Amino acid sequence: MTGVAIVGIGHSKFGRRNDVSIAELAFESIHGAVEDAGIDKKQIQNVTVGSVGGWYEENVPATVVNEYAGLERVGSMRVEAACASGSAAVKNAYLSIASGEADIAMAVGLEKMTEVDTLTAVELMGRGGSYLWEFENFGMTFASYYAMFAVAHMNRFGTTEEDLARVAVKAHHYGSMNPLAQFQKEITIEKALSSQVVSWPLKLYDASPISDGSAAVILASEDTARKLTDTPIWIRSIGASSDSADMSRRDSYVGLGAAVDASRKAYSAAKIGPEMVDVANVHDCFTIAELMAYEDLGFCAKGEGAKLLRDGQTMIGGKIPVNLDGGLKAKGHPVGASGVSMMVEISKQLRGEAGKRQAPIKNGIGLVHNVGGTGHYCYVTVLSRKR
Ligand SMILES: CC(C)(COP(=O)(O)OP(=O)(O)OC[C@H]1O[C@@H](n2cnc3c(N)ncnc32)[C@H](O)[C@@H]1OP(=O)(O)O)[C@@H](O)C(=O)NCCC(=O)NCCS
Repeated sequence: MTGVAIVGIGHSKFGRRNDVSIAELAFESIHGAVEDAGIDKKQIQNVTVGSVGGWYEENVPATVVNEYAGLERVGSMRVEAACASGSAAVKNAYLSIASGEADIAMAVGLEKMTEVDTLTAVELMGRGGSYLWEFENFGMTFASYYAMFAVAHMNRFGTTEEDLARVAVKAHHYGSMNPLAQFQKEITIEKALSSQVVSWPLKLYDASPISDGSAAVILASEDTARKLTDTPIWIRSIGASSDSADMSRRDSYVGLGAAVDASRKAYSAAKIGPEMVDVANVHDCFTIAELMAYEDLGFCAKGEGAKLLRDGQTMIGGKIPVNLDGGLKAKGHPVGASGVSMMVEISKQLRGEAGKRQAPIKNGIGLVHNVGGTGHYCYVTVLSRKR
């Protein structure tokens, strides 16, 4: 089977983007990725758009995106895996090359959530949980699902509201160095702790924002990748897993079974262990999600996520720097775009192009952890400097 590498990356500014349509928003990252890859866009054989949709007017976004970008006669589709739609799009592009069907393929992550007001966006996201039971009967929203995880983690392991606030402070610290981030201001623990409660113990600064944005990656087969660039970033493995939408059927509320399973599949296929990962982007849709991710991915033992952060081990200079682009918390979380955005960041880190936010790279390995729903879906992708 041919190796598959990321050879081009593009990223729009994340935030409230009233200035553009979805096609224009997607074009910003597609154009960037094509330029970065140094190809003629006619060389792209298929395009997969990861987008949840429902908040913007277009019902068939892939067609609109391709047409505006001048990508004609390409195989194309839109895929959905809730907030993991971006990783699902990358997986589809990866498979098209690994199978020998295509030589160059593109994955685009896209979302424009601010087309609707906050209450409508919160409702649409909430309906992505267990709709008929938990949304209709109990009014569960994503903040309340993650509040439930946080309370369980606090009760079981002694994690505190201050620990959650520390995740936000780290995210805003690195977000302040990322010109494409939605929030580029540092915050303090006090500011996070005194912000408005959304669903206790989660407050405004424990939540990722409602965002617009796009990101794109161009993938190529081994021979083509080596011709196009001296710094191909190889997709070593993609582990995918799922879990019940019905929370009463979950084994535990202090972690995500799908994330544990997806990461073990990814590590096994890449023949690595978590200790070999130099830099990671994890799905911090709420602060508690980042602490659970450290544990689910094996960066520390179960229950020790808050300690790992307190000890500074997930900052630059620590054991495993995490979310150096500001994470979903500060960079923004345009849901379908987030997985592709994480691939862009880890590619930059592995290429050594992350500037002030650059992590030291020892083993040449980075990881993307992208969760859909409350762990309904999880994709863990291992990226590497070496094939
Ligand atoms: C928390 C939340 C309800 C706040 O939305 P809101 O009340 O409409 O906030 P607004 O857009 O009116 O913004 C009010 C202020 O808070 C800021 N803000 C909004 N969301 C923020 C966030 N998540 N973190 C920090 N600041 C935020 C805005 O920039 C604005 O600041 P300003 O007054 O200085 O301009 C919303 O961000 C949310 O629902 N987040 C969760 C999204 C989610 O569930 N994603 C899926 C996860 S799986």
